[in-house]
Amino acid sequence: MKSVDTAQNINDLRKRAKRYLPKGLYEFIARGSENEVALQHNRYVLDALKIKQQVLVDVSARSTETALFGQRLAMPLVIAPTGAAGLLRYRGEAQLARAATAAGIACTVAMASNTDLGIVRQEATGTLWLQVYLAPDPLANRALIERAQRLGYNGLVVTVDTPVAPNREYNWHNGFNLPVTLNRRNAFDLATHPRWLLGVLGRYLLHEGFPRFEPIQRDERADWSAIQRVREYWRGPLIVKGIGSAEDARLAVQAGIDGLVLSNHGGRNLDSAASPLELLATVAASVEGRLPILLDSGVMRGSDVFKALALGASAVMVGRAPLYGLGAGGQAGALRALALLRQELDRCMAYAGVCNIAEIGAAQLHTATVAARPGGAL
Ligand SMILES: Cc1cc2nc3c(=O)[nH]c(=O)nc-3n(C[C@H](O)[C@H](O)[C@H](O)COP(=O)(O)O)c2cc1C
Repeated sequence: MKSVDTAQNINDLRKRAKRYLPKGLYEFIARGSENEVALQHNRYVLDALKIKQQVLVDVSARSTETALFGQRLAMPLVIAPTGAAGLLRYRGEAQLARAATAAGIACTVAMASNTDLGIVRQEATGTLWLQVYLAPDPLANRALIERAQRLGYNGLVVTVDTPVAPNREYNWHNGFNLPVTLNRRNAFDLATHPRWLLGVLGRYLLHEGFPRFEPIQRDERADWSAIQRVREYWRGPLIVKGIGSAEDARLAVQAGIDGLVLSNHGGRNLDSAASPLELLATVAASVEGRLPILLDSGVMRGSDVFKALALGASAVMVGRAPLYGLGAGGQAGALRALALLRQELDRCMAYAGVCNIAEIGAAQLHTATVAARPGGAL
């Protein structure tokens, strides 16, 4: 098998992950919801924004280092929570977390993690955050969050953009329903991916049984008071993920949280959602610097990270990019994904004539807003 270090970009890693993984699992990761408009729109908006090149500036002493919630990051990147990581590779969450530690960034472990939170904490010495959905039983949430606190998790991300299960029809077509059960369609899919079958499913069956992958229970009645209740007992940074408008960003500030993630869930939820990047300048203006804004959804290149920072984000979350690395080559593949993003960001900084993350701002963009697509929707 080719070393992951020969992968030249995230797309190379994606193609390798696609070959390794059963189709149902690959599509669960890569695809969007309904007509996949949000997924494509995220990419379009990122590509449409242009970085201003600045020449004949001394850029010899560059650094991608930054700090977030008092935690040092080697670059303004955080691994986003992804429920399925443990299905891509054996104890995939631990492999992702170790890659993040090696790259000097934070990793968010999803509530739906296949790997126990304690195991992930033991395996990774770096910054770890826990992500939760608001469950119908607040005591269940509290027990999980307090356990993470005892284990030494350094941040809490509460995801609020999924009050009901999203509509991802391809999962049904692929026989990839929850809870996962074996049927003719997915049995064929598994049989034609023997490396994954032995290397991942086989190892789970040998050591701990069929991997846990259950639908998450969400509280459709949850409102901002649920965030305030969490605030009362969680002592670390509290980050709300899934903000999609300036109005909700203002409410997030009022709720006294420490950070927000502007996100459309990677185009996996509301298919008519706006792209977080096109909202960013307005959201940043409404928040007035009172809390750091993180952005995710569609980030696949260092230039994407640069653009988010230029429009006012303090850092960026990446979901699929490290997952493609993980699928392509476990921990080494995830680390390769992070290294590629760092190199690309660093190169972008040199072209834009900046040496530090703090220098990146609207002045490095040709326009602060995205140009209209000819005849298009923007
Ligand atoms: C396979 C997969 C599983 C995900 N599971 C969760 C989850 O359990 N909780 C959550 O808050 N977000 C989840 N997300 C969304 C990510 O945290 C993040 O918002 C999104 O992936 C960002 O877009 P990107 O993949 O284009 O980077 C998941 C995303 C993917 C791709």
